[in-house]
Amino acid sequence: MAKLHSPPVIPADGPCESMKIDVAVGDIARWEDEVVVVNLFEGVDHPGGATGALDAALGHQITAMIATGDISPKFKDVTVFPSFDRIPGNRVMVVGLGKREDFTLDRVREVSAAAALRVRDMGLRTFATIVHGAGVGDLDLGDAAEAVVEGTLLGLYRYTEHKTDNDRKKIEAFTIVTLEKSRANLIKDAVHRASVVSTSVNFARDLVNAPSNDKTPRLLTETIRAAAKEAGAKLTVFDEKQLEKLEFGALLGVARGSVEPPRFLVLEHSGGGKSKPVVLVGKGITFDSGGIALKPLEAPGTDPMWVMRYDMGGAAAALCAVLAAARLKLPVNAVALAPLTENMPSGSAQKPGDIVRSYGGKTIEVLNPDAEGRLVLADALGYAKTLKPQAVVDLATLTGAVKVALGKHAAAMFANDADLRSRLERAAGETAERVWAMPLWDEYNEQIKSDFADVKNTGGRSGGAITAAKFLERFAEGLRWAHLDIAGTAWIESAPDSPKRAYLPTGASGYGVRLLARLLRDWNAAR
Ligand code: BES
Ligand code: MN
Ligand code: ZN
Repeated sequence: MAKLHSPPVIPADGPCESMKIDVAVGDIARWEDEVVVVNLFEGVDHPGGATGALDAALGHQITAMIATGDISPKFKDVTVFPSFDRIPGNRVMVVGLGKREDFTLDRVREVSAAAALRVRDMGLRTFATIVHGAGVGDLDLGDAAEAVVEGTLLGLYRYTEHKTDNDRKKIEAFTIVTLEKSRANLIKDAVHRASVVSTSVNFARDLVNAPSNDKTPRLLTETIRAAAKEAGAKLTVFDEKQLEKLEFGALLGVARGSVEPPRFLVLEHSGGGKSKPVVLVGKGITFDSGGIALKPLEAPGTDPMWVMRYDMGGAAAALCAVLAAARLKLPVNAVALAPLTENMPSGSAQKPGDIVRSYGGKTIEVLNPDAEGRLVLADALGYAKTLKPQAVVDLATLTGAVKVALGKHAAAMFANDADLRSRLERAAGETAERVWAMPLWDEYNEQIKSDFADVKNTGGRSGGAITAAKFLERFAEGLRWAHLDIAGTAWIESAPDSPKRAYLPTGASGYGVRLLARLLRDWNAAR
């Protein structure tokens, strides 16, 4: 096989945006830096707290500028002005928090991203900030500090792997300034957690944004091998010969059309002693051309073919969540399973009507080679059973139909277990990575009955996301299982149907990494 190009390994530490984050005890009004960042709610004439202290040090210039309308308190609006040596900080940045009654933890992520992006646009290399939102309502300081770091690191992300102009604006470090010494350690712990999780999200984004020639199943395996080593997680790889021996017939059926051999990754973090693992399964189609059912290169109302590089977004999320769990040494056993293959058309590609035998023995009639995600997941769910898991969550960019159902603002969640469903809903609330419960009523089974095999891989247009989930449910029998269809949430565009969050740049969103990392972090927490 010809070597495509180097480097095969996508670095796991956020190659361009590695950032130093300090926590300091002090008064932001006396802090020396390129720019000091404070905030302001709408309807406030005389700011209090840190913003008020800074205002006083500036001879009430902030109050005056609020009165003249020269500082906007609107959500995500950013106002910058020079301090002309009245304070040690060279510039003041006031970020708008919007209306107090609309305030949420996620708004802390957004305003932090908006502020950091402005600092970078201005060409500055460092800034100092207070913890936005700490003490507003019942918002916990640790949660707020995490949100500041997440918003900053996620917002500053950009995919630069193939840009050769290296003299870009870049923030090198920032400082979180707190008045109270007693809070510094709590903030430091929050900074650690959030920077590990954000780095893991940005790594997932790098994997998903990478062109498919950088992440063939073999190249992606080497990238994950390096990351697993760095994170202290254990990676086991099944190559095509082992997959044949183990009879992963559905994955091999999809892989037949490609000259690139498939891989199956088992990534393990062991922090939970003898307890059974939580298993995360991710669809890893490194390019989905549609196979023999070739997708159009571009056509009105559909995604252009090139975006089908993001069809491994589920695998990236599952793998990076386990990497985050390992880096944080979470007290839980977690395993990511990632079936990796291209879906390509060729003389050896599987054909409509072909019947494959999945791992575990169930047979599948492949009526549409473009419904390949559920095929590779059938094998992975079958394999998951051998791990006797506490629970299984699969993530997949599975159907275009999920975008019709929910748009791009939530993943569709299908679960056969109420406790797992509510755990995911809780994690979704904490991370603002939304899930929305969908039905698994048995009536939908009629649509996937096969005349020739146990099940067929398409169910027609009606309820396309649901019939796909019903297909997976067959292979999850006996498991506590949830399926998240992330075809809508995994990729951000500038179009009006995409979320417009300041920490979600266009391209890969990294959806699922924060959600799953939170699920694992809270797994053993008393409720
Ligand atoms: N990877 C696609 C689903 C997809 C579509 C993800 C658009 C992201 C954006 C999947 O493999 C697929 O092709 N699904 C088909 C299923 C159909 C053939 C039953 C679809 O959604 O059209
Ligand atoms: Mn497909
Ligand atoms: Zn696909």
